Amino acid sequence: RPDTLVDRHGRAITYLRISVTDRCDLRCRYCMSEKMAFLPRSALLTLEEIALIADRFIARGVRKIRLTGGEPLVRRDVMDLTRRLGRHIGTGLDELTLTTNGVRLADHAEALADAGVRRINVSLDSLDADRFRHITRQGDLSKVLGGIRAAQAAGLAVKINMVALKGLNDDEIAPMLGWCVEQGLDLTLIETMPLGVVDEDRADRFLPLTDVLADLKTRFALVGDGHRSGGPARYWRVEGTDTRLGLISPLTANFCDGCNRVRLTTEGKLYMCLGHDDQVDLKTAFREGGLAAVDTAIGEALALKPARHDFSVARGAAPAVGRHMSVTGG
Ligand code: GTP
Ligand code: 5AD
Ligand code: SF4
Repeated sequence: RPDTLVDRHGRAITYLRISVTDRCDLRCRYCMSEKMAFLPRSALLTLEEIALIADRFIARGVRKIRLTGGEPLVRRDVMDLTRRLGRHIGTGLDELTLTTNGVRLADHAEALADAGVRRINVSLDSLDADRFRHITRQGDLSKVLGGIRAAQAAGLAVKINMVALKGLNDDEIAPMLGWCVEQGLDLTLIETMPLGVVDEDRADRFLPLTDVLADLKTRFALVGDGHRSGGPARYWRVEGTDTRLGLISPLTANFCDGCNRVRLTTEGKLYMCLGHDDQVDLKTAFREGGLAAVDTAIGEALALKPARHDFSVARGAAPAVGRHMSVTGG
């Protein structure tokens, strides 16, 4: 199709990540500073605008949408958007999914399943209540565990996202994988990325997943399986179990060659890469020129997609990009 989204490097864009809010009810140390300033509500796209813009992407070949944030479940009426987008599943969309911190998941699990969501990612960096509170600064572990159970009861497949943090949760990675095997969950480990200033130096916490994998292989029978989820993870199967281990290694194993995604922020900016500032303003395009202007702007944005991110977590260095992940939507 002539209007299909292919960038200058020949990569087809089939995956749209939508940050529905930059707000969050946690303050994870690697993600946010303790005193975060959030966008004024007047700066946000309405949920109706998000849905209309998403429709344009679906019309142009996007097959997968992930709602993210911040914490998507803190945006009021986010389930209306979820239901609205869910109507495309099976026709325009292969998958609608969500990344959540789990705190409010118990209240929404059934509705997510009813909207057509089949699989969600839940961020969980520790299984120890005190440590969980330390990492998130204000989280209640029991709420997240309750959310995960509710999601499973609603028939959703759950993948745990764990950011590997030296000196904070490195001793919990193997136990976390063991727990996921017991609970019938998948686990994806993530290297900490330099996005936005936080109160700590990420260099002090950076743990290369190459080392983590070597250690896990001494404890678990891990078999590489060529599975692709449409995201950046490489996967292993814990032999004889239903659990998949994924590794997202932006620093030690670049995956940008296979990049298929772009990101719509709460403010209506379309970022072409997590690690670069190239963007087009779809909110202004829409409000001044309607959906035709959105279509034009999306076409122009394709030329801006960089070949790859260029992250490093050198001690004392400024983050690669100034905006936090909660703005861009991971
Ligand atoms: P699935 O593969 O569908 O399960 O999704 P995912 O793992 O890509 O999504 P999720 O929202 O759980 O994100 C997990 C981590 O991957 C987050 O830290 C994201 O920031 C990171 N991630 C996703 N896409 C990219 C990307 O294009 N570049 C980089 N550097 N990180 C990414
Ligand atoms: N680096 C790596 N992962 C991050 N996340 C949030 N901020 C960062 C960062 N700077 C994780 C969250 C969530 C996922 C969407 O991204 O823990 O699981
Ligand atoms: Fe919130 Fe997710 Fe950032 Fe934690 S990582 S503060 S849960 S947006």
